Amino acid sequence: LAEMAAGLEKDGLALKMIPTFVTRLPQGHETVTIYALDIGGSNLRVIRDRLSGNGKIVQEKVVKKTIPDAIQKSDASQLFDFVADAIAEAMIGDDTKDKSLGFTFSFPVSQTALASGTLIKWTKGFTAAGVENNDVVALLDKALKRKGVDVTVAALANDTTGTMMAGAYQSPGSDCCIGLILGTGSNACYVEKIENVKKWKGDPTASGLMAINIEWGNFDSEKRQVLPLTEFDKMLDKQSPNYGSQIYEKLMSGMYLGEIVRLVIKQLQSRNLLLSGTASSQSLDRPYAFDTAFLSQIVADNTPDLQETLSLLRNIGVVNSTLAERQALKEIATAVGVRAAQLAAVGIAAVVTKMGKGATGCSVAVDGSVYEHFPGFRVNMQATMAKILGNDKVKMVLTKDGSGNGAAVIAAVH
Ligand code: BGC
Repeated sequence: LAEMAAGLEKDGLALKMIPTFVTRLPQGHETVTIYALDIGGSNLRVIRDRLSGNGKIVQEKVVKKTIPDAIQKSDASQLFDFVADAIAEAMIGDDTKDKSLGFTFSFPVSQTALASGTLIKWTKGFTAAGVENNDVVALLDKALKRKGVDVTVAALANDTTGTMMAGAYQSPGSDCCIGLILGTGSNACYVEKIENVKKWKGDPTASGLMAINIEWGNFDSEKRQVLPLTEFDKMLDKQSPNYGSQIYEKLMSGMYLGEIVRLVIKQLQSRNLLLSGTASSQSLDRPYAFDTAFLSQIVADNTPDLQETLSLLRNIGVVNSTLAERQALKEIATAVGVRAAQLAAVGIAAVVTKMGKGATGCSVAVDGSVYEHFPGFRVNMQATMAKILGNDKVKMVLTKDGSGNGAAVIAAVH
């Protein structure tokens, strides 16, 4: 709570608390046909969305591309040319004039208007040169011009804001005022009273409200007073592309959970305590090769001899494993998942408390693979929030594709 309040007062602190220029929630009756571009992890999507006015969002066309690692780590023009090509592909056959696009860009962006903002710092696996400290909409516009694609960027959004807006559009009247992402990365946004946003230099908003992108993944990264880190967390941080930052995110998001478990296994293996009777494998030796999806499969394995875990291990080159070893592995994976869910719950409980809704609750729109697919994640989160808040009035609503669709909703509402 103290870090949130501090971030609302000035820039440059651990919690960025970014005003998003989203000042109104949708009613569910807005109608528009618009493109939505979603960049946030290794996949990008371009969707032609139709908001049909009854809380429904129809995806008329979807183009999905994996952004190759080499492009993620290239430079601004290569990255945005790749993006512009995908947009051009999505627009094939659409000869309507004045096309517009909502752009979800899921990185810490200092927003300067509804449709412009500067990347503060790359997170997750991205390092493309020449994007940090630049306006990402201007970079996209330039690439669109180079490629001869005619479309106007109507809104720039973080995926948390997009998810909150998509959730609010789809369930009007549900008091959906928090957006949460638990996917490759993690973050949340919420609706704040503009008078509490002390650093806001603009006019008061007509609604008196402003959605704030917390960028909560960086919580406690400066003071290091709160989060208890294990030796594995410290090792992971040291070897990550963004050493020292996003500490909270590194404890609970999909990019890192598998890696934490890989580091634990490697250490136990080196002490002959786990999987010592087997040659090591590519997936255990190469950083980030032990996918978080593996953890979900291991935790979900309820066969008597953990047969599914056995074949998963074989598939990644670990030929021999005893039942006891597989049970230990399941316990490690479960513990890492439970910790992540509990930490995410602490964050939401804090945001709800900050909004003064601890007693009444509200609804939280959630998107992301960890929340959706990690066994028990939702239940563990819900239980921890109930313990902290003393009630179970916070309602979490899975809002699939919210991050993409939401930018379309934002453009329609503003
Ligand atoms: C980014 C956030 C984003 C989150 C979830 C984090 O790494 O900094 O902007 O919302 O990932 O995608």
